[in-house]
This record gives sequence, C-alpha cells and structure tokens, in this order.
Amino acid sequence: MRHRTNVDSHPVFAALFLAACSVGASWAEPLFERDILPVLAANCFSCHGGRAMIGLDLRTASSILRGNHEGPVVVKGSAEKSLLFEKVSSRKMPPPAFNLQLTDQQIGTIKDWINAGCPSEEEVALKARAKEQVERFEKDALHDRPSGVA
Ligand code: HEC
Repeated sequence: MRHRTNVDSHPVFAALFLAACSVGASWAEPLFERDILPVLAANCFSCHGGRAMIGLDLRTASSILRGNHEGPVVVKGSAEKSLLFEKVSSRKMPPPAFNLQLTDQQIGTIKDWINAGCPSEEEVALKARAKEQVERFEKDALHDRPSGVA
C-alpha cells in the first residue's frame, strides 16, 4: 500500500507548496474587509445593504453570520453548507436579470473565505477588546492575587 501524498508529511512537498504560495498571487487567507466586502458592495448592496434591504444585510461579517430571519446564511468553515455560497455558486445571486455577475475568481474567494472560518478585521478587533477587558478585570478585581496564578 502506498501512502497518499500529503503536503504535511513530506517536507519537500511542504517546502514547494509554501514556495508556490509566496510566489505570484501571494495567497493569504481572505479577509472580509479587504477581499469580500468590495465584491459584495459592487454586486449585492443594491439589494442587501443600502436603503433597500431584502431580508439579509451583507455589509459586515457579523451581519452575514447573523443571517436573515430564518437564520445564518453562512456556516463558518463550510462553504458547502452555506446558503450564501450555494446562491452565488449556482449564480442565483445576484439575480441574473439584474445584469451583474460574479467572476469565477470572486466566487472562489468567497468559498475560501467561508472555508477559512470567515476571518474579518471586525472579529480581530472584537477579540482584542474582549482580551483587554478580561485583562483589565483581572488587574482590577484580582489584583491582590499573586501574579502568575491562574
Ligand atoms: C436585485 C436584488 C438583489 C441583488 C443584487 C442580490 N440579491 Fe440576494 N436576494 C434578493 C432577493 C429578492 C432575495 C430573496 C428571495 C430569494 O431567496 O430568491 C435574496 C436572497 C438572498 C439569499 C438567501 C437568504 C435570504 O434572505 O433569502 C442570499 C444568501 C443572498 N440573497 C445573497 C446575495 C449575494 C451574496 C448577492 C451578491 C453577490 C446578492 N444576494 C445580490 C435580491 C438580490
């Protein structure tokens, strides 16, 4: 039996893979504000963002994760299970009659973003703020404990 070629277990492949990533298109994890927002703004906001809001608010990562009245339209980590991805990959959204179309590359970026767990600056900021508050709490409320004790 042969082992399947696994990038993780083969240092040479891993090195080639990393080299391929750093060359050219410099693949980095898609970030909502940088990679997704411009696509949605151009193609979706006319119905899901501005004054005309149809059920779903696509303006921020958190509003997308909140979804509509029926629940989330994105499942973090799984484009396959995400209604939003289903709608764009099947080209039901934006509605064909509306004369807008996502490129395959844009659809791919949306897929990568969902599969990566929907990273956003918003979330990074929220986490930083939560950490700061926990630290402040620990400092203020638990200041009489010896440091280093959890
Ligand atoms: C011309 C207006 C229009 C545009 C532009 C548009 N949508 Fe929609 N969208 C709708 C309408 C109307 C519905 C509700 C009916 C339906 O599900 O077909 C909907 C429903 C959806 C849903 C299902 C959740 C729900 O609230 O029903 C998703 C997900 C979605 N749109 C994503 C997108 C994305 C992503 C884009 C841009 C790539 C986009 N839409 C662009 C009009 C639009």
